Amino acid sequence: MAESMLGLKRTNRCTEVSEANIGETVTVMGWVQRSRNKGGIIFTDLRDRSGIIQIIFEDKDIGSEGFEKACRLRSEFVIAVVGRVEKRGGEANTSLKTGNIEIRAAQLRILSEAETPPFPIEADSKTKEELRLKYRYLDLRRPDIQRNIILRSRIVNIIRNYFMNEGFLEIETPILQKSTPEGARDYLVPSRIHPGNFYALPQSPQLFKQLLMCSGYDRYFQVAKCFRDEDLRADRQPEFTQIDLEMSFVDVDDVIAVNEGAIAKVFKEILDIDVKLPIRRMTWTEAMNRFGSDKPDLRFGMELKDVSDTVKGCDFGVFTGALDNGGSVRGINVKGQAEMPRKKIDALVEFAKGCGAKGLAYLCVLPDGSYKSSFAKFMTEEELKALVSAMEGEPGDLLLFAADKTNVVWNVLGALRLEVARLYDMIPKEEFNFLWVTEFPLLEWSEEENRYKAMHHPFTMPMDEDIRYLDSDPGRVRAKAYDIVLNGTELGGGSVRIHQSDIQEKMFEILGFEKEDAYTRFGFLLNAFKYGVPPHAGLAYGLDRLVMLMVGADSIREVMAFPKVKDASDLMCEAPNVVDDKQLEELGICIDTKRAENDTQ
Ligand code: AMO
Ligand code: AMP
Repeated sequence: MAESMLGLKRTNRCTEVSEANIGETVTVMGWVQRSRNKGGIIFTDLRDRSGIIQIIFEDKDIGSEGFEKACRLRSEFVIAVVGRVEKRGGEANTSLKTGNIEIRAAQLRILSEAETPPFPIEADSKTKEELRLKYRYLDLRRPDIQRNIILRSRIVNIIRNYFMNEGFLEIETPILQKSTPEGARDYLVPSRIHPGNFYALPQSPQLFKQLLMCSGYDRYFQVAKCFRDEDLRADRQPEFTQIDLEMSFVDVDDVIAVNEGAIAKVFKEILDIDVKLPIRRMTWTEAMNRFGSDKPDLRFGMELKDVSDTVKGCDFGVFTGALDNGGSVRGINVKGQAEMPRKKIDALVEFAKGCGAKGLAYLCVLPDGSYKSSFAKFMTEEELKALVSAMEGEPGDLLLFAADKTNVVWNVLGALRLEVARLYDMIPKEEFNFLWVTEFPLLEWSEEENRYKAMHHPFTMPMDEDIRYLDSDPGRVRAKAYDIVLNGTELGGGSVRIHQSDIQEKMFEILGFEKEDAYTRFGFLLNAFKYGVPPHAGLAYGLDRLVMLMVGADSIREVMAFPKVKDASDLMCEAPNVVDDKQLEELGICIDTKRAENDTQ
């Protein structure tokens, strides 16, 4: 039977008790990690969020009734113990912070009993993630997850204090918004009062933070929940958190400077790491050319090389064909892997195809200087030599080439570079390598929709020197947009915003919105701009990703208290789910039952 804690007050968390308390009486409360009965003496590990301390129960201290109670203790029982802190009788346990002390119990209360949990509550769980997430409330008891969640709270606190000190105001923006799709898919919420009408959950507070600048709040930040109905991956969730900010009367360098301060502070305080400032910057074009990615991982080399000029006269149709179609031929040099078995090379070819390549050409420069290659027969000895030299190849190196439209080549080799580095363990794990990627293209061409789309969002300012190309050659216009990248993950992104109505209208025109359509969607912003708007700029971090990288987790699910799984469902509370007919009726919603059945099958 559960007892009450009436009359007891906890004096310490488990690991707040130390040798300094020896001889004192303390009251601790928590969960039984495990309890071992060694005849007349019971050793119990008591756990709370701070860690574990050993409790000793003996008849002589606690009386026979108390001892009998202690005999009943099982894992995950919640108990309160009053006892004296002593030096540990047995050998010290060096793996515990409290390894050289123990509490000799004088009083025990069982506050709550527990069934046997479906998996052990311990660090480095081997339990399948589905089961852990179904019982997330138990999973969250595990020390490694608790550490992540506690660190997350500290990180938010440090960032919040930093921005407050820098003159930012924390202002909440609405969760129920108007749907302005552009980017990811919206989550919609039906309105009861306005049947047939929907709110959208925010993909980000973008428009509201810009309006706050129009309203003179000067510096805004928010720990903002965002919702995007998109395909999930290890670093993507349908519901995630941004550290979102916006500043008035600033340009790119001001935003970067204030954020470098935030990053340096949080890494110093949490990990005692000095981030070298200023953080390196690289333009988007350089990042793509050298690393085939707009979020390059700079912890290792293996850079892409453009060999189009070197191979342009050769007889290998794959290369020349790509060049004739306006594409390029580029390669990476996998140092020292010339003797990679054929099977493994084939696996890399398949990987490249999975990334959209038509194939992957290889050239092994064998240690004796001879070649093994899928295309050497189409080239003269001289052409091969020139190609190896362009790739800075040496005997022992494996050269991999892709030929296609340049953006395909970038994507393929960018992904291949990462895959090879992972397979051959080329990435130093302890390093934190930051990078600002700047000067993104303003627009990207969508083959699917046959129109330009905004690369960041439609409110992003073109670079001053490129504004003149907006009409004549929009594809070449660069934007005042920047991403902060850490170890190959996009941590955050932002831009200077358009604050001139004429440029904003031009932008909508390029994106294919009729003027009326633009006003229907974004009229409130465009109207606000008519009444005096300061130049402004901002940025948003993915908090989950930041915490993931700081704690060294493989997925953002490990740093979110209640994450969703790949199909966007919550396994614990079984959301999404059907609702009562009455609720639907009130909302004026009918379900296409046939489609619902088909889709869930
Ligand atoms: P953006 O769309 O680049 O910019 O988002 C900013 C950062 O949010 C994180 N992020 C995500 N994290 C987890 N799950 C997701 N599904 C997800 N999507 C994005 C990323 C990303 O860098 N309003 C602009 C910011 C601005 O211009 O100020 C915006 O939302 O780390
Ligand atoms: P094929 O002529 O299709 O037999 O290809 C000859 C070699 O070129 C094979 O190793 C293919 O994998 C490779 N290859 C084919 N298409 C491409 C491409 N677009 N880029 C690089 N290599 C390719």
